[in-house]
Amino acid sequence: MTDTTDIKKGLAGVVADVTAISKVNPETNSLLYRGYPVQELAATQPFEAVAHLLWTGELPDAVALADLRATEREHRALADEVRAVIDLVPLDAHPMDEVRTAVSLLGAQDLAGSGSVLAASGSAEDNLRRSIRLFAALPAIVAYGQRRRRGQEMVAPRDDLDYAANFLWMTFGEEADDLVVDAFNRSMILYAEHSFNASTFTARVIASTLSDLYSAVVGAVGALKGPLHGGANEAVLHVFDEIGEAANVSPWLDDALENKRKIMGFGHRVYKRGDSRVPTMKAALDTLIEHYERPDVAELYDALESEFVARKGIYPNLDYPSGPAYALMGFDTLTFTPLFVAARVTGWTAHVMEQFGANALIRPLSEYVGPAERHVEGYVPDAADV
Ligand code: SDX
Repeated sequence: MTDTTDIKKGLAGVVADVTAISKVNPETNSLLYRGYPVQELAATQPFEAVAHLLWTGELPDAVALADLRATEREHRALADEVRAVIDLVPLDAHPMDEVRTAVSLLGAQDLAGSGSVLAASGSAEDNLRRSIRLFAALPAIVAYGQRRRRGQEMVAPRDDLDYAANFLWMTFGEEADDLVVDAFNRSMILYAEHSFNASTFTARVIASTLSDLYSAVVGAVGALKGPLHGGANEAVLHVFDEIGEAANVSPWLDDALENKRKIMGFGHRVYKRGDSRVPTMKAALDTLIEHYERPDVAELYDALESEFVARKGIYPNLDYPSGPAYALMGFDTLTFTPLFVAARVTGWTAHVMEQFGANALIRPLSEYVGPAERHVEGYVPDAADV
């Protein structure tokens, strides 16, 4: 009988394996991607370079970055059949269901004819190619999802724009200001990777069976949809809409806490004195607030943060500043978590490739607390059951 004190619900505090991809350090409130502080990467690098870093372990030189950008451009257009499958998803379904479905189709197409399931995990070259393909394809999937819900026509990509600017172009059909492109690029870098979070660990569990990279990403999309995880950035805007303005924060919090609600955008399983990514994303939000002249957003943001931290000592996570930032950029609230997918697909695929290399099935134990052993001959269905 396992000593039940050994059970770590939610695997809280359990070190499940090693990884060379990122280091989340709550003691120093820091986050390193392959050794680089995420703040430095967000301030200086295009998202394409950070994707390369996560996948290969190194920032790209000029030639490698040019090659990645060329390949990304080859695969950024929304394929007709992917669009057709997205169009089969009900308009009032959650966009994460569109994303999950589109990734599933891309996987089925790419893996067609690849032989037995024994070959599913593929080679290192296969999986880097597949990773780049998903990285390139997701912006058009997310952008088209928002436009179809708004009744707008699809916007084709532009080869003269790099990843972030093109993502905004395909979503809004107009060129974004440089400061908006920069804020968006920073958000993608900050969202890209975060060690063994729930969706990444889901991807690793799937990869640990030597299934394929696409199946691992589909599973990760399902995990990220939840409001305790990626769905929180969308939920932050629902909270802002409920509160309305800064003056309403106190009564709203009284009611929310009385009803034991989780306040979206706050708290974290690993960081307990603030999320290392928040200052960088908050700086980007402040730039957008000034650019769009929205002091009301700053007032509400600051009022909720200061009052909740004072009452509960629970600090904002990345979703708290990113929600209002995406709203100011013009994204629909329902699009926020798909944006998280477009960024985190780089971290997920890096972990899938690392897990394939580890070649170790992930299969924890459980403690049985059901009925003691009993036997069927003792069971006589009640005459009324027949
Ligand atoms: C992400 O893991 C990652 O790295 C995830 C992520 C990534 O980049 O991949 O960082 C992205 O998912 C960020 C988190 C986004 N989720 C939210 O903002 C949803 C709201 N947050 C909470 O649900 C919560 O903070 C969690 C789930 C994020 C973390 O919870 P834990 O570590 O399991 O802690 P807990 O739920 O046990 O909370 C401890 C106490 C509890 O009170 P008691 O029951 O002990 O009295 O703190 C309370 C909780 O009720 N609490 C909150 C709260 N967060 C914790 N109370 C109200 N609102 C909150 N947000």
